[in-house]
Amino acid sequence: MSIDRALTDGQTLAAILDKIAGDVVLAFSYQAEDVVLLHLLQTHAARRPVAVFTLETGKLFLETAAYHAEVEAFFGLVIHRYTPDAAAVAALESALGEWGMRHSLENRQRCCGVRKVAPLKIALRGKSAWITGQRAAQSVTRARLQNLEYDADNGLIKLNPLAAWSEKAVFTYAQKHALPLHPLYAQGFRSIGCAPCTRAVAPDEDLRAGRWWWENPEHKECGLHMRPSA
Ligand code: ADX
Ligand code: SF4
Repeated sequence: MSIDRALTDGQTLAAILDKIAGDVVLAFSYQAEDVVLLHLLQTHAARRPVAVFTLETGKLFLETAAYHAEVEAFFGLVIHRYTPDAAAVAALESALGEWGMRHSLENRQRCCGVRKVAPLKIALRGKSAWITGQRAAQSVTRARLQNLEYDADNGLIKLNPLAAWSEKAVFTYAQKHALPLHPLYAQGFRSIGCAPCTRAVAPDEDLRAGRWWWENPEHKECGLHMRPSA
């Protein structure tokens, strides 16, 4: 995909946002896709305020905290943090221990449920639409991803403006506009989530091979993006 197409997508995104009444939010995971989206929004849809939030799971990399401030300074905005319920985390930790999320799919989904899915529900409450950086090429679970979806679980519109973008297009765009990128990309990471569940990948490995690497590819969703086709 060329940069020209990327810019057209920015205009399309702005036109779609103009048609949506109410609050629209961007889910920011510190990955390159979300940084590109921030730039597209600032460049093409500055007239349309979009609040930015992150799900601070309590298990993110130390590097992510420093990068959070870098992104806020670069774009001149605040990334709102949603944290999990403290009592639910305490119960989770006493049941699973520190590494229990790696012991079974059930454990892992329980941890994602407390640390990601429940806070997401709160972040999306009362909103009209949310924007994500998902791409169809990222995994088998996202192969049928659409630009525009209805999130039935949370009851609002879900926009995936980069659905058709390649990984190369994302990084070419980021480089062209000198956007700040998460420091772990320089250490071989190609997808970045929580520290216990993310590792760097070898050049010949799949893009998401470093996420929940002990699971089958068809299980690699944490509940933020479950869909019937997944
Ligand atoms: S995940 O479901 O496997 O964790 P992934 O890391 O591919 O998702 O990110 C896809 C999109 O989901 C991101 O571009 C972002 O919009 C949203 N997202 C994922 N993790 C978070 C997070 N911790 N906080 C906010 N948004 C997130
Ligand atoms: Fe827990 Fe790992 Fe899910 Fe993060 S990605 S919420 S640490 S299971």
